[in-house]
Amino acid sequence: MRLPEDHDVPDETVVSAPADSDVVIGPTGRPLPEFPEPGPVGARTKARVISMCNQKGGVGKTTTTINLGASLAEFGRKVLLVDFDPQGSLSVGLGLNPHQMELSIYNLLMQRDVDLDEVVVPTGVPGMDLLPSNIDLSAAEVQLVHEVAREQTLQRVLAPALEKYDVILIDCQPSLGLLTVNALTASDGVIVPLECEYFALRGVALLKTTIDKVKERLNPRLEIEGVLGTMFDGRTLHSREVMQRLVEAWGDTVFHTVIRRTVKFSDATVAGEPITAYASSSAGADSYRTLAKEVLARWQHDA
Ligand SMILES: Nc1ncnc2c1ncn2[C@@H]1O[C@H](COP(=O)(O)OP(=O)(O)OP(=O)(O)O)[C@@H](O)[C@H]1O
Ligand SMILES: [Mg+2]
Repeated sequence: MRLPEDHDVPDETVVSAPADSDVVIGPTGRPLPEFPEPGPVGARTKARVISMCNQKGGVGKTTTTINLGASLAEFGRKVLLVDFDPQGSLSVGLGLNPHQMELSIYNLLMQRDVDLDEVVVPTGVPGMDLLPSNIDLSAAEVQLVHEVAREQTLQRVLAPALEKYDVILIDCQPSLGLLTVNALTASDGVIVPLECEYFALRGVALLKTTIDKVKERLNPRLEIEGVLGTMFDGRTLHSREVMQRLVEAWGDTVFHTVIRRTVKFSDATVAGEPITAYASSSAGADSYRTLAKEVLARWQHDA
């Protein structure tokens, strides 16, 4: 039996351009650019901090954090992943047992005598570390309310990591509460994963309002880095229409790269590995590598 992800239908189509060259139309309906091969990291300045954010559950935030992180590490970037969801899916997805964590990000946030280095753990991916979390983090949300500068707590504890890493990716929980506001306050950019289905755009206006408020009141450098279509199925008109509407609403903020729907992502989670390690040559792994190239190209452009 052939699994759905094994289909050979390409997401992109080649159409004849009026000029002599062929233009490749990508899955978002726009001409698909070639992203340059990432060069070596230059002199390290400060880590770029990116939050994966969408208050809708199950849209691919954690999957994107793990696999974009692993792909950036493959391209030689030193990456720190921050599990900022009390569900701890990112930590579990990297093979950690939530009940056997001596220290988690909760301790780092709430105890002044705990250092970043004591909590960071290496992952199976060379060059990629993790700040793990578990259900304890849900208590932090309640306790932080009484703290001074409660929105800046994550920013404060991540400060020492800025010198050590090139990229810090924060996996947010599906809510727009105080933890997510902390993540946005600590970030330079936001990536919004959106599942390619009809109700995907619901709630995005609220997310945009939250991002705007954080930018205005707490963190003027915050930008929306990009909107990422996930669980895309190029064979369905439905997926293509959702993509089209996304581009109408968000223009070039939408990444050219889309992530197809494939069961390999859940298999990789069970295995406690990124798909780039679990099924290194799969289409899913390739899409995240392409996303990493696109992200790096955008950053180079901004620099
Ligand atoms: N491209 C994809 N194709 C198929 N399944 C996927 C894809 N991306 C993610 N999944 C699966 O969908 C589920 C939800 O993904 P994920 O945990 O990344 O979403 P999330 O936004 O982090 O969810 P939550 O809001 O609960 O934190 C997982 O079981 C994951 O394995
Ligand atoms: Mg998640």
